[in-house]
Formats: sequence, structure tokens, C-alpha cells
Amino acid sequence: MPELNLAPQYLCDAAALQECGDAVLFEVSEWGQNAPAFAVRFDNVALAYLNRCAHIPAEMDWQPGKFWDMDKRFIICSVHGALYDPPNGLCVSGPCHGAHLVAIEVREESGQVYWYPSERFQPLF
Ligand code: FES
Repeated sequence: MPELNLAPQYLCDAAALQECGDAVLFEVSEWGQNAPAFAVRFDNVALAYLNRCAHIPAEMDWQPGKFWDMDKRFIICSVHGALYDPPNGLCVSGPCHGAHLVAIEVREESGQVYWYPSERFQPLF
């Protein structure tokens, strides 16, 4: 079994994540399979999730990097309109009500945003 890489992974500069702005898209290896992910900023906190609706495993952005509803209050899945609460990824409306987006740990440090690998999420090689 390959050794786990738990080193923080550079994702983007902090300035690239504007409050409720376009997402920064990235990819991780999830249990060895490539998986699309995105990072956004909400309430001045950087957040990242797999780009995978909790309803049907489809990518959610209506255009690349566009994840916000009209009021920029919720993350919206463009496929059937599920709304997710940004801080915790909980679906508050839509066909997967009560389900969660899959979170990826991110932290900001010295003006840069990093994501943190885990057993489940590893960097791509
Ligand atoms: S696939 Fe996202 S709401 Fe149905």
C-alpha cells in the first residue's frame, strides 16, 4: 500500500477566493480515483467540497466555478436545484434534503490556501 501523503497541498492564493465569488476548481484522488473539488469563501472562511451533489453523483456548477444561488447565500446544484449551507455542506432544500456535501479540509496561511490530504483524499500524482 503506498504511503499516505499528509503534507498540506497548495490550492491557491487567498485573494483568489473572493467572498461568495467564483470557486477555485481542483482535483483530488479519492480512494485512488480522480475526483473534482472546489473551494469558495463564505463569511470570510475558505471552504472546500467535492464537486459532487449529494443527490446524484453529478458535478454541481452551472458553469465552471459557478456554485452560488442568486442571493449568494447557498451553494446550489445546477442539476435539480439542491441548496447547501456553505459552512457545513448540509442540504437544506431539494431532493437530497438532510444530506451533506463531502468536505475537504482547507486552511489559510500567510495569504495562501492549502488543502489537507487524508486517508480518503490524496494529491494527484
Ligand atoms: S443532482 Fe444535484 S440536485 Fe439532483
